[in-house]
Amino acid sequence: MEVHFAVAVHSKAAVLGSVCSVPVLLVVNRASSSPGVMDTSGAQEYDRLQELKTSDETKAGVKGLVDSGLQKIPKIFVRPAEELAKDLNYKRAQIEAPVIDLGDLEKTHRHKQIVEEDVEEKKKYYTRDNTRRVRFNSNFDLFTSRTSSWRDTLAISFSDPDQINSDDLPDLCRKSVIEYSKLVNNLGNILFGLLSEALGHEPEHLRNMDCSEGHRLSCHYYLACPESELTLGTAKHSDPGFLTILLQNQIDSLQIFFQNQWVDVQPIPGAFVINIGDLLQLVSDGKFTSNKHRVVANRLGPRISIACFFSGPIHMDKIFYGPIKELISEENPPEYKEVLLSDYIMKFITTGLDENFLVNYFKG
Ligand code: OGA
Ligand code: NI
Repeated sequence: MEVHFAVAVHSKAAVLGSVCSVPVLLVVNRASSSPGVMDTSGAQEYDRLQELKTSDETKAGVKGLVDSGLQKIPKIFVRPAEELAKDLNYKRAQIEAPVIDLGDLEKTHRHKQIVEEDVEEKKKYYTRDNTRRVRFNSNFDLFTSRTSSWRDTLAISFSDPDQINSDDLPDLCRKSVIEYSKLVNNLGNILFGLLSEALGHEPEHLRNMDCSEGHRLSCHYYLACPESELTLGTAKHSDPGFLTILLQNQIDSLQIFFQNQWVDVQPIPGAFVINIGDLLQLVSDGKFTSNKHRVVANRLGPRISIACFFSGPIHMDKIFYGPIKELISEENPPEYKEVLLSDYIMKFITTGLDENFLVNYFKG
């Protein structure tokens, strides 16, 4: 299947005409697990749930652990032995992600480091309540994933970038967050225009479907890890929404699953990585395919990234998404089923990232 993936937006060289079409093999491999009781890396049982609770109650995240000076990472972060062994079979490969120059369409802007360091300030925002607009926590899926990941995240939801109630944003990053949200929203709209045209529609098509209506910023903080080979920064997944615009600093840890290998995506200064998400796969009825990616843990750090997810309207009562009607005919019956957005997002939030294969959820 032909896909568009990991398009980096760059300020040089015009290659807009050659939007990448790269074949990708998707491998779905679910190992059985019993989260909460069993250490899947060996026979020895331990009280995982208790350890998760203890870790969560510190409200200090992975940074709190690192600050305590630990040399060995807690067991909740250690990936199952069979999973680690499987990784050893992958050769470390590199590809050049296809680059699109948006040249004068959009100017690049400075990297904003909006994850601040003051622990007490962060604790005020520590929550697992997904209805809160500003949420700081370590692993949104701490209690549902098989293995915890070595990262902390500040997440902020925007339902309408022009009507931001800025009072609930942390003082330290209020200005940058508002400015970044507006810029990234503009870029999102440009990309939705290009993607609509790639599907043979008017530039407004995806925007008119409210694909760019709201967005969420996930500001990830990946600390240096003393046993980086045992854990991950972010487990393997595809993004659930339509499109993700990812800004990252220069520590390369992002990998994409491509031709049955994990491949490093080298950061390009001044460029974003664009991920096609599962919902775009759904509405394009498979014309675009989401990509599987992950973040490896690193002995260097911190790595900082800001993912902006466009996943449709944030207030999403009774909104359905299905394959675009014009792409469907008697000769081309739909491959995918319609989904109720609220159900779909809930399914994502309540499932561990490493257990999440949402494409299966709407496969016809
Ligand atoms: C994500 C993601 C990658 C990164 O948040 O979905 O894939 O580099 N992040 O942080
Ligand atoms: Ni992702």
